[in-house]
Amino acid sequence: MTVKPGQKGSASVEEVPDSRTEEGALLVRGRAVGVCGTDREIADGGYGTPPSGAERLIIGHESLGEVLEAPAGSGFSPGDLVVGIVRRPDPAPCPACAAGEWDMCRTDSFGERGIVRLHGYGSERWRVEPDFAVPISSRLGHLGVLLEPASVLAKAWDHVDRISQRAFFARGRALVTGAGPIGLMACLLGVQRGYEMHVVDLAMAGPKRDLVEDLGAHYHTGDAADIDVDVDVVIECTGIGAVGRSAARRLASGGIMCLTGIMNLSPTFDLDATALNRNMVLGNMVLFGTVNAGRRHWEQAATALAAADPGWLGGLITRRVPLTSWTEALDRDPEDIKVVVDLTA
Ligand code: BGC
Repeated sequence: MTVKPGQKGSASVEEVPDSRTEEGALLVRGRAVGVCGTDREIADGGYGTPPSGAERLIIGHESLGEVLEAPAGSGFSPGDLVVGIVRRPDPAPCPACAAGEWDMCRTDSFGERGIVRLHGYGSERWRVEPDFAVPISSRLGHLGVLLEPASVLAKAWDHVDRISQRAFFARGRALVTGAGPIGLMACLLGVQRGYEMHVVDLAMAGPKRDLVEDLGAHYHTGDAADIDVDVDVVIECTGIGAVGRSAARRLASGGIMCLTGIMNLSPTFDLDATALNRNMVLGNMVLFGTVNAGRRHWEQAATALAAADPGWLGGLITRRVPLTSWTEALDRDPEDIKVVVDLTA
């Protein structure tokens, strides 16, 4: 699965040489790759960087594969299911990367497999370093392809938990904006923490509502500002400033709001920064952004998926396409939640 970053419409299937041992001691047979908004943005020419010296990038950062070769002492054996971590520390490295927290990198020279500077996992065979591979239990099986999006929300919630230690905090209700794969994962992880969860989305009915309600959470349609409860946590998953601003109106004093979405739109001046300042000061509020995930978040995500209902997780995967026609995964179907490319077909 390759693209030429910066060139819209360049996504295709290509024969590429086998990856070299230096790219990782584990040789993996790719099973599946999930496709997300970042992949669509790369395919639209709006994001992504090929490895140095290359024109094209092997895309795919939501991986799942089966180990074919593993050196003794690596902790992995042939037949194990694994997912590859996305980010690698910057080569310098910056103080955060040097401390092992590459998801908090202070420069923009890190690599991300399938996104910036490093080939991804969208191939029939790939390699990964054992330290950047996460084992998947055979019970989870094909659902392991959901680990990467889950890791992003595991980080969001981990940071909410840590920020909440600053003072008195009520772990009561939380609101998620957007019921795509990221919003649904945010809801699952909130339910697992014991929050009364609310999710707001534009869709009136259909699988999104069902998936939210199957978790015992409340589904709302329309504007987040109009929902009838105030919340202690907001997890914003649309990347649309106006949606975040509406949701912020439901945040109780002492609340924490986490931004996880990115939308590639031209900026609009639709925010009164002085009013935001006043509300945040008078309400002791925290607003923070989060991207990517560190090693502990991948492990937290694996625990969260193992504790979830496999039937519910399976409901997130609404479409599968074979490798040969993977570019169809980039099309947006209104019924899609998570689209997965089957690398074995
Ligand atoms: C990925 C992250 C990555 C971010 C920015 C997201 O889609 O899940 O791992 O850090 O894009 O490149």
